[in-house]
Amino acid sequence: MTDTQRLHPTGRLVPDELDEAMVRAVVDAFYARARRDEVVGPVFNRVIAPEDWPAHLDKIADFWSSMLLGTGRYMGRPMPRHIAIPELADTHFQRWLTLFRMTVEELCPPAVAALFVERAETIGNNFRIRIAQFRGEDPRQLKLMRAGTAL
Ligand code: HEM
Repeated sequence: MTDTQRLHPTGRLVPDELDEAMVRAVVDAFYARARRDEVVGPVFNRVIAPEDWPAHLDKIADFWSSMLLGTGRYMGRPMPRHIAIPELADTHFQRWLTLFRMTVEELCPPAVAALFVERAETIGNNFRIRIAQFRGEDPRQLKLMRAGTAL
């Protein structure tokens, strides 16, 4: 280990290659794809008005910057936003995660892509558990979801 390695507040290392520009590129590419996608696109396009997309992308970039670079820029609470989407189902999460994995594997070096994917899978599975609880379903019936490599 060298003394130039950056530390995230959780104590994890931030990969050298990861910076704000890479976070932004991932966010822009992922949502450009997600908005056009036949599975997740209709959900995004119903909830987020066209004029609200720039602010949404800024917020998501803040989120990933906080998650992976430890900047603390995101102060929101994503869980209630997802609980409030009644049509959200496992098919959406599976597609979201796979599109996300394809995007980060295209744009990032392997260690950075793996970090994005691991964090997205953890958050996605937490959302699924909380949504199931909110809907009065048994979260123990859920199977761990991983991001696929192809649609
Ligand atoms: C799997 C991992 C996911 C992550 C890490 C994630 C992350 C986020 C974050 C950080 C926000 C911003 C919340 C805020 O306003 O502060 C957000 C909003 C949103 N997400 Fe997700 N999300 C995930 C899955 C999904 C899925 C599967 C869908 C459905 C297609 C979805 C649809 C949305 C929508 C429509 C909003 C806007 C909500 C609103 O403004 O009311 N997300 N997401």
